[in-house]
Amino acid sequence: MTTTFPTQPVAAISGGLGDIGFAAAHALKKTGCRVALGDLRDAGRDTGGFHVHHVDVASEASVQAWFGAVEAAFGEPASIIVVNAGIACTGSAMSATLDDWNRTLSVNLTGAWLTARAGARRLIEKQMPGRIVFVGSWAAHAPHVELAAYCAAKAGVRMLAQCLALELAGKGILVNEVAPGFVNAGLSGQFFRKDPALAARSSAAVPLGQLIEPGEVAAAIAYLCSPAHRNLTGSTLLLDGGLSLLRGPASKP
Ligand SMILES: NC(=O)c1ccc[n+]([C@@H]2O[C@H](COP(=O)([O-])OP(=O)(O)OC[C@H]3O[C@@H](n4cnc5c(N)ncnc54)[C@H](O)[C@@H]3O)[C@@H](O)[C@H]2O)c1
Repeated sequence: MTTTFPTQPVAAISGGLGDIGFAAAHALKKTGCRVALGDLRDAGRDTGGFHVHHVDVASEASVQAWFGAVEAAFGEPASIIVVNAGIACTGSAMSATLDDWNRTLSVNLTGAWLTARAGARRLIEKQMPGRIVFVGSWAAHAPHVELAAYCAAKAGVRMLAQCLALELAGKGILVNEVAPGFVNAGLSGQFFRKDPALAARSSAAVPLGQLIEPGEVAAAIAYLCSPAHRNLTGSTLLLDGGLSLLRGPASKP
């Protein structure tokens, strides 16, 4: 296996046109990466000169075509894979429709698996080291009544990250997860913009008393993607302002 990282590694970010993905693109560019974004949506924003490809992470063929396009564009596979594409369908376990359940699982969990696997396969083929970072969620371990499918998918992502970390350890591919809490953008941001009182209630519920900015998640992603760390794999970097420390209503300081 080639043990050294390319000096300007290629980073592929699924859901890269979303708020956290795009912030991660800028953070990784600052570290010297050449960045490729894959997303289901049309750009709708200045793509900052990043390589952009239309991809549906729930489709194996589409994911393979994306990684093929990235390799063709940069002349080498992506050494850094940020598995970030996600959706959130609201609904309790009792009220969710089968369609919503299947869509949530197919994008957030199956799509995460397809993305990580396609990226890792190309690295293994070229005997290159790599970094895979899953953008999970604190919802992986904190049940939410109105987000049952999302919680179940993110719990699956956490275990997938650990299984892959073990499976790819001998290949020099390190696999980790960043698990944000309430981010003031993207999937939660849409609810916070519609209902500022919800944003206020949410930040008040966080022990550190504030929502997380996408740039903070991006910095955590960039850290986990760094070729400088050599022994960090299978871990979750929990970035939730202390939300996970709460145990019932009395525990807020
Ligand atoms: N915003 C939060 O509070 C928060 C908290 C914890 C975790 N997360 C996670 O962060 C990640 C990014 O979410 P975000 O908050 O930036 O939301 P976002 O909606 O801004 O970004 C998600 C991106 O994924 C893309 N996407 C959706 N389905 C896709 C598919 N089938 N194929 C390819 N791309 C697809 C969307 O088009 C979008 O650009 C998600 O995995 C989400 O679960 C977000």
